[in-house]
Amino acid sequence: MRSGNGVSHAKIILIGEHAVVYGQPAIALPLSKVKTRVHIEETNNGKQILHSRYFDGELLHAPTSLAGMKHLIEHILDEHSLTASSFNMTIKSDLPAERGMGSSAATAVAVIRALYDYFELHLSPAKLLRLANIAEKIIHGNPSGLDAATSASSHPIWMVKNKELYTLPININASLLICDSGIKGRTGEAVASVKKRLELDQHATQTLLNKLGKLAFAAREQIAHDDPTGLGETFNTAQEQLAALGVSNKQLDTLIETSLSLGALGSKLTGGGRGGCFISLMKDQEEAERLAQQLRIKGVTETWIQPLGNASEE
Ligand code: MEV
Repeated sequence: MRSGNGVSHAKIILIGEHAVVYGQPAIALPLSKVKTRVHIEETNNGKQILHSRYFDGELLHAPTSLAGMKHLIEHILDEHSLTASSFNMTIKSDLPAERGMGSSAATAVAVIRALYDYFELHLSPAKLLRLANIAEKIIHGNPSGLDAATSASSHPIWMVKNKELYTLPININASLLICDSGIKGRTGEAVASVKKRLELDQHATQTLLNKLGKLAFAAREQIAHDDPTGLGETFNTAQEQLAALGVSNKQLDTLIETSLSLGALGSKLTGGGRGGCFISLMKDQEEAERLAQQLRIKGVTETWIQPLGNASEE
């Protein structure tokens, strides 16, 4: 019996969320320990069955919350005249949903890889990202492609939408603490609100987006020159711009403030915002572990630590 597998990672945006949608650069890294895995097994019952955290049943009857995924799978089957195939697809993910860790993009990337593996089709990196965007467009309306590009990558990346995409080695003597605020992020809503803001107050909003772009360039320099103090300050300035853009919220602001008062070099939301995760830059792993414990008392529900000294390693 035929089978196929696909894997992808959670993503963390270091800097550039939202601004990346409007052509500014962004830096993001995959969290290699936090994965989505998809396995496909051939069956002979004439059905395409999906087993996932949210839905167990025929793809045909998938709920609207899985519309992006359903459309993506149907698109691939249709493109290759494989609509009559019969299989079980199992999606297993370590990623919390709606927390700014790119769970929808990670699922799309793993599903595409598994289908191409299953049907023994060639999949170029450009095709993978183009296909992932099909699902992302349905979920977020206007995706930059950053989430899919990061969860498909084994290395940190620098991206300018439709222009630049390359590996950016991150070798800075510090650790990144990733914290789940416990509140659902609302990426689609946040992306739509930035769009609206641009329409209503083009000059002020564009100024904020340009500033975020400049901060991404500054972060790239600080990373290249092993400057954790500078990078921490860049995080803080980015958080101010993101809050002014309207994509933070009270709970995130409070946790970020607390993080700074407890010794973080810098702290900011990551991903779509309005909930979800935030990141804090720490001197080293030990400091990151200490802060993680203290923040859990303050309401953080889950934490991950990514050493940045070897963020490029798988
Ligand atoms: C969401 O993880 C990142 C955003 O910049 C949206 C996008 O890039 O498509 C908010």
